[in-house]
Amino acid sequence: MEKVVEEVLNRHNNNTSILSVLKDVQEKCRYLPEEAISQVAEGLGVSINEVYEVATFYSFLSTGLLGENVIRICKSTPCFLKSCDVIVETVEKELGIGIGQTTEDNKFSLQLTNCIGACDKAPAMMINDKIYGNLTSEKVIEILKEYK
Ligand code: FES
Repeated sequence: MEKVVEEVLNRHNNNTSILSVLKDVQEKCRYLPEEAISQVAEGLGVSINEVYEVATFYSFLSTGLLGENVIRICKSTPCFLKSCDVIVETVEKELGIGIGQTTEDNKFSLQLTNCIGACDKAPAMMINDKIYGNLTSEKVIEILKEYK
């Protein structure tokens, strides 16, 4: 972990935002443990509180261990109006987890997020970096099969 954070800090050459560093650390470690937050704070010369505030503000950053595949379902108004709650219920039922939880085999984590830029295809969700739109329960079940 320490080496990973050190490598990210070196790559950013201390000349960047807390958010950019945290995004890169999370990409490598799948989440932001306390040790990483402390190390980033020290490396950027800011307080642990400042780093922690950023780490907990953005829905795409997580201080808890995430699964191999992170499902983020959009909850912003256009998706809400197109019944994103049905999509949430489908994923919850298919995976046996609720929002903010990770499956026992660490294969999936489920989160809600704000707009992911696919409003014209509402309701929409992301799995890792891939966006899926015009979702229906049937479509979601098929998509999840690809990741199981
Ligand atoms: S509101 Fe859901 S993708 Fe924009």
